[in-house]
Formats: sequence, C-alpha cells, structure tokens
Amino acid sequence: MACSPAAFGNSTGDAAPRFPYPQAPELHAVYCAPFGFPSPAVRQRFLIMQSRISIGEVPFRQRPAFAEFTFPSYRRMVAEPKQHPAAICVGMASDRRPAGLALLQWETRETVALVSIWIQPDWRRQGLGTRLLGKAEEIVAERGIVEMSSVHMTTLPALDAFEALLRRREWDPPQLRMYALKSNLSLIYQSPWMTKPPVLEPEYTLTPWADTTEDELLEAGSKATYHPLIWPPNLSNDYDRHSSLAVRRSGELVGWIINHPVNTRMLRFTCSYLRDDLQGRGRMAAVMAASIRRADEAGYTEATWTVPMVFPRMAIFARRHLFPYCYEVAETRASRKALR
Ligand SMILES: CC(C)(COP(=O)(O)OP(=O)(O)OC[C@H]1O[C@@H](n2cnc3c(N)ncnc32)[C@H](O)[C@@H]1OP(=O)(O)O)[C@@H](O)C(=O)NCCC(=O)NCCS
Repeated sequence: MACSPAAFGNSTGDAAPRFPYPQAPELHAVYCAPFGFPSPAVRQRFLIMQSRISIGEVPFRQRPAFAEFTFPSYRRMVAEPKQHPAAICVGMASDRRPAGLALLQWETRETVALVSIWIQPDWRRQGLGTRLLGKAEEIVAERGIVEMSSVHMTTLPALDAFEALLRRREWDPPQLRMYALKSNLSLIYQSPWMTKPPVLEPEYTLTPWADTTEDELLEAGSKATYHPLIWPPNLSNDYDRHSSLAVRRSGELVGWIINHPVNTRMLRFTCSYLRDDLQGRGRMAAVMAASIRRADEAGYTEATWTVPMVFPRMAIFARRHLFPYCYEVAETRASRKALR
C-alpha cells in the first residue's frame, strides 16, 4: 500500500470530489456586506473559519461518500467497506460535507499503514491535514496500534506538503527504499555500455530464460540463499520471452535478467542478478545491453526499473549506468511513527 501519484485521477491529484450532501449555507453575503469583495483565498479562509469542521472515523454506511478522496486504485477500499474490513477511514467534514480523508489499513495486530491522506484542494494549507492525521493517529493508538507506516513516491505532486505534514506530526524522516526509473531505448542507446558493451568471456553464454530447467533452478537454489525479490520462482510467469535471459558460466546457471511487459511499448526490467563473486567486471552491463537489444527487436520503446536499496550493488549500477540515461528518476520513501 502506498501513496502513489500514478494512481491519481489527474496529474495534480486535485480531481474535484462530488458531494453527496447539500451545499453549506452561502456565507459570501455575510462576509461581503461590511468589507466589499474579498479575494478567493481570503473568502476561503473565512469559510473555513465559519465551518463546523468535524473529524472522526467514518461509519461503514457513510464511507462511499468519501471514496473520491483517495487514489482511484484504493477507492474500492472506501466504497465497499464490507469487502475491505482491514480499511480504516478517518474523515473530515465541514458542515457535514466530506472535505478530507485519511485512509489506513491494518497490517498486523499492532501496526497500521497510512494508505493515503487527502484534503480537498481549496482547504489545504490551513492546518487541516495536520489535524486529520493527528486524529487518525489518536484513533488507532486507542486500539492498541503501536506503529504507523507509510510509503510514498517522490513523483507525488504534493510531495513537499506530504513530507512537511509527516514532519509536523513528528514521523521519522522518510527513508529511501527504492529507485523507480523510466527511460526510452533511444536514450539508453546513448550510453557507452550500449554503444560499446563490455564483452563477456567465452565461458559465459546468454540463453532465453524460458529454456531454463527446473533442475538448474533447484541446483542454483541449493548453492545459495536468494532474496525473495530476485528468486525467479517468486516472479510472475508472464515474463517477456524475448529479452529475459539466463546467464551461464561453463554451463552452470549463475545469473538471470527477467523482464515483464507493462504494456506493448514499455518493458519492466524486474530482476537482474549475477552471482556475487562474478560481479564487478562490467558483466552485468553486458547482460543488460544484450537484454535491451532483444527488447528493442521485440518492439519495446520504453523501459522501467525498480531498484530496491536491499541490493546495494544494483543501486550503484543504477546510479552509474542508468540514471544519466533516464527521463525520470524517482524514489519511493518509507516513513514510520511509533505511537507509544
Ligand atoms: C498532503 C496534504 C494532505 C496536506 O494537507 P494540508 O491541509 O495542506 O496540510 P497542513 O495545512 O496541515 O500543512 C501541513 C504542513 O505541510 C506544509 N505544506 C502544505 N502545503 C504545502 C505546499 N504546497 N508546499 C510546501 N509545504 C506545504 C505546511 O506548511 C505544513 O507544514 P508546517 O506545519 O511545517 O508549516 C494535501 O496537500 C493533499 O491533500 N494533497 C494531495 C493528496 C496527496 O498527495 N496526499 C499525500 C500522499 S497520500
């Protein structure tokens, strides 16, 4: 679960919500009479001051009215509460009209994830996000939750506001968790490791990953312990057959690069692995270059990588060899707060 801008209805995250309740009484005339016409910002501040703001957990039957206040991919968690019993909705209403939502989800008996927090655009920068998150923390702490966590991307349009909000609520500073990179093949072809790729020694061969046998995998599995994120049986089987490759050294399986189509044009380089003792001689760049050429032949024009920080050598590779040729270099960041 993550705060992800890609999931927003539009690029700014300011999709207008629909209100199910009648409009609040028109306060414009009350304000204008003595002072003339105020600027929209002043009028908005006045409206907020005059509104009855209520913040609290939203009962099941009222949740659908708040569904617009999160990313499209999470809206069902709000709109269909019976199907999502792990979701907790803390809503903010002004004169009974929904105006904000903190969507949380139980992770374990004692931890909760902040899935998203959203304040209606006109109402931002008035301290309401801080109040809403504070109330959400209070509600879950009363239920014995000891830790809240959150994961967000740096491509979030409201990144500064969100990180300031976490600071204000005294969350631990966000930690870099993963790089999320996007490039197109014409950019990648400008890299030195594509124009003149390192040459693999003759004992190395690259073959389609689809030809790898179960016995080979069993043997590789018996020789080392792999992080679950790079162990091929954990990856989805709909990998790209053209560009996913097995790396063999004198016939022995020593690495792989496994890619998945995001759509017909974009390929995700899901996992690249080369045995630790064989890294550091440009071999991974050679394998990546071969895989990219095959992706090109298969008609892909865009590429994306996610590089978790648990693989420090891959992170170094990405910084050195991928960052300069990407049109988007984003991070996912994780934050947490101990509630007692
Ligand atoms: C993030 C969000 C909930 C903040 O709500 P808000 O009501 O504006 O928050 P507050 O008024 O309580 O401000 C909280 C802090 O953020 C800062 N802030 C708010 N908007 C900001 C902006 N545009 N740029 C920089 N800082 C900003 C405030 O100054 C305040 O920090 P401070 O107390 O140190 O001065 C709101 O911007 C929003 O709904 N954004 C769209 C959805 C989104 O991206 N959610 C986060 C990811 S799930």
